[in-house]
Amino acid sequence: MMRSREIVAKDQTLIPPAFRVSYFPLVVQEGTGATVTDVDGRVYIDLLASAAVSNTGHAHPRVVDAITRQAKAFIHYTPAYMYHEHLVRLAEQLVSLTPGEFPKRVRFGLSGSDANDGVIKFARAYTGRQKVVSFFRSYHGSTYGALSLSAITPNMRRKMGPFLPEIYHIPFPDCYRCSFGRDYPSCEEFCWEQIESSYFQTILPPDEVAAIVVEPIQGDAGIIVPPPFFLPQLRKFCTEHGSLLVDEEIQTGFGRTGKWFAIEYWGVIPDIVVMGKAIASGMPLSALVARADILEALEPPADLFTCAGNPVACAAALATIEVIREERLVERSAKLGQYAMDRLLKMKDRHQLIGDVRGKGLSIGVDLVKNRQSKERAVKEALKVCWRCYEKGVLLISFSGSVLRIQPPLVIAEGDLEYALNVIDESLTEVEKGMVPDAVLEGMVGW
Ligand SMILES: Cc1ncc(COP(=O)(O)O)c(C=O)c1O
Repeated sequence: MMRSREIVAKDQTLIPPAFRVSYFPLVVQEGTGATVTDVDGRVYIDLLASAAVSNTGHAHPRVVDAITRQAKAFIHYTPAYMYHEHLVRLAEQLVSLTPGEFPKRVRFGLSGSDANDGVIKFARAYTGRQKVVSFFRSYHGSTYGALSLSAITPNMRRKMGPFLPEIYHIPFPDCYRCSFGRDYPSCEEFCWEQIESSYFQTILPPDEVAAIVVEPIQGDAGIIVPPPFFLPQLRKFCTEHGSLLVDEEIQTGFGRTGKWFAIEYWGVIPDIVVMGKAIASGMPLSALVARADILEALEPPADLFTCAGNPVACAAALATIEVIREERLVERSAKLGQYAMDRLLKMKDRHQLIGDVRGKGLSIGVDLVKNRQSKERAVKEALKVCWRCYEKGVLLISFSGSVLRIQPPLVIAEGDLEYALNVIDESLTEVEKGMVPDAVLEGMVGW
């Protein structure tokens, strides 16, 4: 039996099913740059980057060196009681990287999820209001606060309620599958008018909204890029009504979309930026960077975690920022992203399965449909394409049912990206020709 199969078989008896969304039995042994090697020695080109985490590539030598040096000095001393220098240096960096020229503070955590819980706490404390607004199909994480903000799949609600009270979801403008049946751009700002009349003029008094939490590009919803007016409109609304605009960049941050933070595409200045995932190249770390007065609204010990702001993770984050700057990975993401987008759009001319290609930088969604008119999601076909790519040595998963998720490490070599795109092209053809059997779907759960 292959080692992968053996390990996966054991995993299935020991680890709870809710801990994973399974695609294929890949057991990682090593990674470098944009390649991953499994325990059976097979090498893959990675189009997932560990879910938009490994932006600097796997085991970047500078990041590994920073981690090793700090681990040798001391692995942890909790910032809940003492101080360490990396925490302060990293906070300074994050303050200068984020939009907005005003005094800021930085609140550290361990995961995107706990960062979003922090958002709810600080927004309520600062505004003295309880209502927090987020969007349908958003994903904000798995702790109770983050789950309450999320609205992605019934499995993240089922059996676990009740959730936090006073959290409301409103539609996010998805111009490919418009909830209001309109076509962009002829709809202009019809969706905002609908949101206002259905929510803010009925169940959600704007003067009671503490915060609006928004992914500037919805990630797990299938890479949904909002129309140009939307984020400026949210900023205007929040300013008018004294609500906080929370820019949730856990998936989009650190160069993923061709900017340091995706919100920069719209020139909007948020009150709070939420970051996680790529911040420390895979070490557990998250941060809220916010107007100082907001993060001064709670008193000690209202918001501390023993291992938050761990020095090894902070050292990794400082090295990550240096690598992104020095290797010009933000620019690389924009350039390679454009190249990939153009190639995928050309594939769309040849593959009826492709309904839409969208995204920014190296964060691209390829939405597969059974029929271009009805836009019915081709969920099984998307899973089969991922399986075929896996067989051919390319790591690709689908989310939002039908959307292929293309988010490689930003360091991916041009030749590897080219190769991986060719493999997607071939796999689409093979799925369209019925060459990938239904049997492969057994064990594939998928988002
Ligand atoms: C936009 C967004 N927010 C929050 C999270 C949750 O982050 P974590 O899994 O680190 O708690 C994710 C993870 O996929 C995400 O994509």
